[in-house]
Amino acid sequence: MAIREIITAPDPRLKEVSKPVDKVDDGLRALMDDMLETMYAAPGIGLAAIQVGVPKQVIVMDLARDGEKPAPRYFINPEILWTSDDTAVYEEGCLSVPDMYEDVERPARCRVRYLDYQGEIREEECDELLATCLQHEMDHLKGILFIDHLSRVKRSMMLKKLIKQKKLQEKEPA
Ligand code: NI
Repeated sequence: MAIREIITAPDPRLKEVSKPVDKVDDGLRALMDDMLETMYAAPGIGLAAIQVGVPKQVIVMDLARDGEKPAPRYFINPEILWTSDDTAVYEEGCLSVPDMYEDVERPARCRVRYLDYQGEIREEECDELLATCLQHEMDHLKGILFIDHLSRVKRSMMLKKLIKQKKLQEKEPA
């Protein structure tokens, strides 16, 4: 396993649309292992493959709280089958939009079909944090960031800040 570099906005790769996976094999599982390690190290609760520069429909996630046993989850080629009319608002953040958090409103529940780590088809009804996180990560597969759900003014303010942060980091490399 290896920690990969996480791409941050406004990198154009984050706008790429990810392709479905043909086959769940050891190569793909190695990618998912790396993604999970990268996510834990960040730390974060969800990561899409495009965030490490791989335009494949792959998501890793772990919603276990501090002190709970790790509960890694893998979603390959996820498809939303249904979303609820009622919505929920969560303060979202993203490893590709570092240090910024904003409220985003999304359907409160959804039903999803996906392939798991072994390549088995699964269907699941999601609510609460899982529903929000999954919709956030699935947006990444379409080239959408959570800041794209905000007003144009807010988004451009955040992008300006991100560009400034990047310039500062370039001046003083870690
Ligand atoms: Ni994200």
